[in-house]
Amino acid sequence: MWRDLFCRPLLAALLGQIIFLSACAATQPREFISEKPTKGYEDLVVGFAQIGAESAWRTANTASIKGAAEQLGVELKFSDAQQKQENQIKAIRSFIAQQVDVIGISPVVETGWLDVFQEAKDAGIPIILVDRRADVPDDFYVAYIGSDFEEEGRRAGAIMVDLLHGQGDIVELVGTVNSAPANGRYSGFRAIIGAYPEMKVIASRSGDFTLAKGKEVMEELLQGYGPGIDAIYAHNDDMAIGAIRAIEAYGLKPGQDIKIVSVDAARPAFEAMIDGKLNATVECNPLLGPRFFEVALKVANGEPVPRWIKSEESVFFPAEAAAILPTRKY
Ligand code: AHR
Repeated sequence: MWRDLFCRPLLAALLGQIIFLSACAATQPREFISEKPTKGYEDLVVGFAQIGAESAWRTANTASIKGAAEQLGVELKFSDAQQKQENQIKAIRSFIAQQVDVIGISPVVETGWLDVFQEAKDAGIPIILVDRRADVPDDFYVAYIGSDFEEEGRRAGAIMVDLLHGQGDIVELVGTVNSAPANGRYSGFRAIIGAYPEMKVIASRSGDFTLAKGKEVMEELLQGYGPGIDAIYAHNDDMAIGAIRAIEAYGLKPGQDIKIVSVDAARPAFEAMIDGKLNATVECNPLLGPRFFEVALKVANGEPVPRWIKSEESVFFPAEAAAILPTRKY
């Protein structure tokens, strides 16, 4: 009798508890009953397929990525493709084979990524585009962290309109052909100067984002057009510095006889502006490492991330260059 009185309510309570718990488990969204423990930075394994070391910007970008990995305790597998797309493709395949948590890549050119991105997708490894975009469907990557290259081109165009008072012959030193920054900076610039019929791009040649190539191309352009060139639009500072050397060797004054606008805002550009040899530089921020790993960790833990994490950037002129140079981190 006392057993019935005591045990029945206890059993009923226990049964009720079991039913309640199973009902909760059945109705909880999947993420609340995740089988995987949440990762921390020290659990994260990331592959990064870098382009190479073509510019001061790229050197700063690599330092930012490696430095952030070290500081956060992330295991980073870093590959330098030496400007070759096939090396970046090989690097991605090797990261897939090593089953990294996340792959970061700065694609050297925009096209030709479909097959290898599909392989990463099939292996369940998310891709984050860093610095440069790739021409792939939206579901082939989780986020893009980087600049608005069209806007950089528009900013350079507006500065050029002011410098030339809406009139003059411009030569353009284009970045790597078919790369996202070259494409965006090319079209953004034209979107602005297109409204000024007296402003003409008389030559547009690739200097591959390097100082050496920028100098070489500028030497050839000076042979062809000589003092007929009013201004140079260089898609990065390194090519502008190369062009400055070529102009000086030719016997003209860069920044005066030939106006120059470039992109990046790296320290050598500030030095050139202080020397009066460069008229403006449009900022493109390479310090993307900390943000990249923050996003990579969220992605590895299945958390949502924005599609485009846009860099905040500015433009700089000679008048402020000396004051700003000591504060520049790259
Ligand atoms: O993708 C960013 C560009 O690549 C930088 O403007 C250039 O300097 C670099 O090589």
